[in-house]
Amino acid sequence: MASADDVTAHPLGDAILARAAVLARHTDVAPADVPPGSATPLTVTYLTPAHRACAAQLVQWMRDDGFDEAGVDAVGNVVGLYRGTDASAPRLLTGSHYDTVRDAGRYDGRLGILVPMACVRALRAQGRRLPFDIEVVGFAEEEGQRFAATFIGSSALIGRFEPRWLDLRDAAGATMREALRDAGHDVDAIPAIARDASRYRGFVEVHIEQGPVLVDAGVALGVVTSINGSVRFVGEMRGVACHAGTTPMRRRRDAATGVAELALFVERRASAIPSLVGTVGIVQVPNGSINVVPGRCAFSLDLRAPDDALRDALVADVLAELDRIATRRGLTYVLDETMRASAAPCDEALQQRWRNAVAAVGQPIHLLASGAGHDAMKIHEAMPQAMLFVRGGNDGISHNPLETISAADAQLAVEAFSHLLAQLA
Ligand code: GLV
Ligand code: MN
Ligand code: MN
Repeated sequence: MASADDVTAHPLGDAILARAAVLARHTDVAPADVPPGSATPLTVTYLTPAHRACAAQLVQWMRDDGFDEAGVDAVGNVVGLYRGTDASAPRLLTGSHYDTVRDAGRYDGRLGILVPMACVRALRAQGRRLPFDIEVVGFAEEEGQRFAATFIGSSALIGRFEPRWLDLRDAAGATMREALRDAGHDVDAIPAIARDASRYRGFVEVHIEQGPVLVDAGVALGVVTSINGSVRFVGEMRGVACHAGTTPMRRRRDAATGVAELALFVERRASAIPSLVGTVGIVQVPNGSINVVPGRCAFSLDLRAPDDALRDALVADVLAELDRIATRRGLTYVLDETMRASAAPCDEALQQRWRNAVAAVGQPIHLLASGAGHDAMKIHEAMPQAMLFVRGGNDGISHNPLETISAADAQLAVEAFSHLLAQLA
């Protein structure tokens, strides 16, 4: 196998990395104070100017690559179609998301759009058509950053866009309806983008692994067996804001220490079973002051498990503890469930296709479960799905600007995807 440093040996992988770098020029927040030599963080949230610039760039590349159709749909998904020879044959659906978390890396989501685009580009260059159409989707939103909604793009594609989302507000007070309208979208057209699942043979998604399993195992590609289920909440603990100098400790009703206690419980409870994870990723005292006991504390909960029963038991324990903490500390709270995704086992037959593809490009077959959520778990509600993971560098770090992949591994992903297409053909 060629070495990862031997860049000239991986033209398709180099092209993927180059495109990811071009997309990474579009970001919501100009990064301040990035120390020289550090990776530049990237933030692209739903329907911002940077987000729309990414969509326009993807459409342009799809046209350059020889897709027969390319455009942006009513919810902001970028959709490219490369026609096969038999219009009545079930289509293959593939893709991933182009939005990012805040201070992200450049491969999470985008790799799964760029890899099938590279395959279509190669087919077109060879003048080849498959028997079936390939539809490549750059999902507009998967990360749940700007609004308290997640999987917006993939939900719309399977007819599960929730109309109540239109009234959700971002941090600046704009509703999703306004954001869609300002981006030139017709919200009334969203229901019509729902696909008829019977016209598809399934969904496949390539994604950076976002963890250390493949690096530790020394393998470039991993076949995903299932995607963990998750539930998310956003909430606010409420106590009484008062003077930090004059209020005795026993008289306080401190909202932030209530959230801190909850975060420690989540850590303890999730750590007790190796396959569980629980995160309090937002802890924020609105208008907090150094000399004021926190009267309010916003927080989030992200709870995940490999099956729904384990996940639901974790959720039940965390919610019961939240109630106990609030009662004991004289606090109240509000809590909204913002996302519930079932664990999604990958389709056995499509998994086998990925296994064959990995073997065909000379790589060992490594099976693993996905701890991260993916568009595939939403599409799973409508059709069979299976995912291929690609090894990340820097110990697999992700949701971090240090996220990286090698050109060699990106090239293997393109070759494996091409092989999957050949098998399906
Ligand atoms: C998606 O990135 C997730 O939170 O798993
Ligand atoms: Mn992500
Ligand atoms: Mn992702």
